[in-house]
Amino acid sequence: MSVIKADVGGYVGHSSIHMDLYDAAREMLEISKQKGEIIDYHVTHCGDDLELIMTHQKGIENSEIHGLAWDTFVMCTNIAKKLKLYGAGQDLLKDSFSGTVKGMGPGFAEMEFEERRSEPVIIFMADKTSPGAWNLPLYKIFADPFNTAGLVIDPAMHEGFVFEVLDIRKNRKILLSTPEEIYDLLMFIGATGQFVLKNVHRKDGLQAAVASTQKLSLIAGKYVGKDDPVMIVRCQSGLPAVGEVLEPFAFPHLVEGWMRGSHNGPLMPVATREANPSRFDGPPRVIAAGFQIAEGRLIGARDLFDDPAFDEARKKANQVADYMRRHGPFEPHRLGLEEMEYTTMPLIMKRLEERFFVSEENVLVESKA
Ligand code: 13P
Ligand code: 13P
Ligand code: MG
Ligand code: MG
Repeated sequence: MSVIKADVGGYVGHSSIHMDLYDAAREMLEISKQKGEIIDYHVTHCGDDLELIMTHQKGIENSEIHGLAWDTFVMCTNIAKKLKLYGAGQDLLKDSFSGTVKGMGPGFAEMEFEERRSEPVIIFMADKTSPGAWNLPLYKIFADPFNTAGLVIDPAMHEGFVFEVLDIRKNRKILLSTPEEIYDLLMFIGATGQFVLKNVHRKDGLQAAVASTQKLSLIAGKYVGKDDPVMIVRCQSGLPAVGEVLEPFAFPHLVEGWMRGSHNGPLMPVATREANPSRFDGPPRVIAAGFQIAEGRLIGARDLFDDPAFDEARKKANQVADYMRRHGPFEPHRLGLEEMEYTTMPLIMKRLEERFFVSEENVLVESKA
């Protein structure tokens, strides 16, 4: 299963995508399906991000599948340019395709697995945020018994899960086992700007979840838009139930992103038709597309946050949005300096560098004796 996404042009501004892109992407993947290159596909969007969900038998990081996604994004970019959509081709950092979309701008999450007797899968897709946004929900789904009753009740889950944590600043990763190492795990993944969860396995090796971890600013070396991550989570029968996987999103936790990718704000769970962030280009959104997979066919999507049970989370997100907005350009609404390194901060610092002079306000006083 491959979920590959890119922002190839916003309609209007960064708020949503134009139907023409959607139709073009569908057409392209339909041809590929007819030719037997992929088994099935589903095209959707979260905000201004075009999301391609595909099933096939070619494994992960396959050049044909990535090439198909790349060609689709290029074609949609051309349409976006004709319509002068905002930031046409925003996430395509390279001119030509070379093997996979890795390091080229688009984000992706892929998982190779043997279909179980029944295979319920949820694809989460977010806009106006970045990969660390999944850390909190993934922890709750797979390691918190107050969220996931199955960790206590289901013998198949009782042993716990193994989390792969990526250190995106140092390009290295570590496996941590729960419940034994939850305190170590939390020390890292609580720092969502540096440590990002990549995937989760059950202790018998079965893969349960995978997330996209591409950071555009780290690849491009400057701010070009947020990474707007996706993730795939398999559910039921020895894995968390669909309702346990959705449950963390009833709390609209703070994530980085929002306006100009430079602000913290609440992650609001919404139906796909409501995934059009407009207020201050947000607040950040997440949608959940549920599928039953049958011989590779995608039976769905069920729009899982299209449920009044998430109304309170949306209301809370709006209240938190109000509260955060009133900080204006102050932290912690605006991101910390380390993240601002990719925007105008270095320029301003360079311009004013000469005007700083030494202050001894906080220097330890040497004793005169
Ligand atoms: P049903 O009895 O509706 O199948 O639900 C079973 C269950 O485990 C719900 O979490
Ligand atoms: P996107 O990353 O969704 O394009 O948003 C960028 C932005 O600047 C929003 O204000
Ligand atoms: Mg955009
Ligand atoms: Mg986006």
